[in-house]
Amino acid sequence: MKEKAIGVFDSGLGGLTAVREILEIMPHEDIVYFGDTGRVPYGSKSRDAINRYARQDARFLKKMGVKMIVAACGTVSSVAPDLSEELGLPYTGVVNPTCFSAINATRNGRIGVIGTAATIASHSYKKRITEKRPEFEVFEEHCQLFVSFVENGLVDPDDELVQLMVRRYMAPLKENDIDTLILGCTHFPLLADAIQREMGDGVTLIDSGKETAIYTKKILEEQGLLRDTEERGKAQYYVSDTPADFEKFAGLFLKNKPHDNIEHINIEEY
Ligand code: DGL
Repeated sequence: MKEKAIGVFDSGLGGLTAVREILEIMPHEDIVYFGDTGRVPYGSKSRDAINRYARQDARFLKKMGVKMIVAACGTVSSVAPDLSEELGLPYTGVVNPTCFSAINATRNGRIGVIGTAATIASHSYKKRITEKRPEFEVFEEHCQLFVSFVENGLVDPDDELVQLMVRRYMAPLKENDIDTLILGCTHFPLLADAIQREMGDGVTLIDSGKETAIYTKKILEEQGLLRDTEERGKAQYYVSDTPADFEKFAGLFLKNKPHDNIEHINIEEY
């Protein structure tokens, strides 16, 4: 079991922010990644569609023989149920680990959350935080447009269009004197420089991809599922649209191009 890969999925490129961190903190692990590039974005879809996609994505990864599944997608984690029992595998989304980190980071108890339309409509992060700390105030803003910018490689903090978009969406949060901001969609850490510049250094950004990778390591450790090897892990990527587009932008997320295999699959078969 230990030798098997970690399965990670997202609607597209965003989950690679979790993969980037997994490669950093668990370099000996193999990864099987599925990016549903043919059906991105998830955040503007109905609950029924998101639930169906989440199950298909997870079933595909299970079929690939992984030892754990990571829904590296704020939208799936907010809308779909915990699939661990259904899959018979350890499973995590991004909401719990990210909230835990934000609760520890805030000093004034005023936390902002940005996510996709579906994530913000579910109030998943707000509910989780106020369940634990009812005295905290949580301010939510949906930034669905960020996903399209990121999927098109538009993330440069010096780009005027990026600055304009970030300023427009961050304005209400700035008024609320938050000191911590959850990047509740795994695509958003790619815009972290632009967001940090707009919010100022007094605001701590919480990266949902990174927090989820740290939590994944904790689960694997607890269950004795980390590989015992000095060998570097391998990564295999699958997408539901053309591999060429995925490869073009994946370098943005992984800081280099994924030279390992990228293959197309028909996700509707799962
Ligand atoms: N990266 C995903 C998330 O964390 C999905 C973005 C989208 O497909 O709308 O919410």
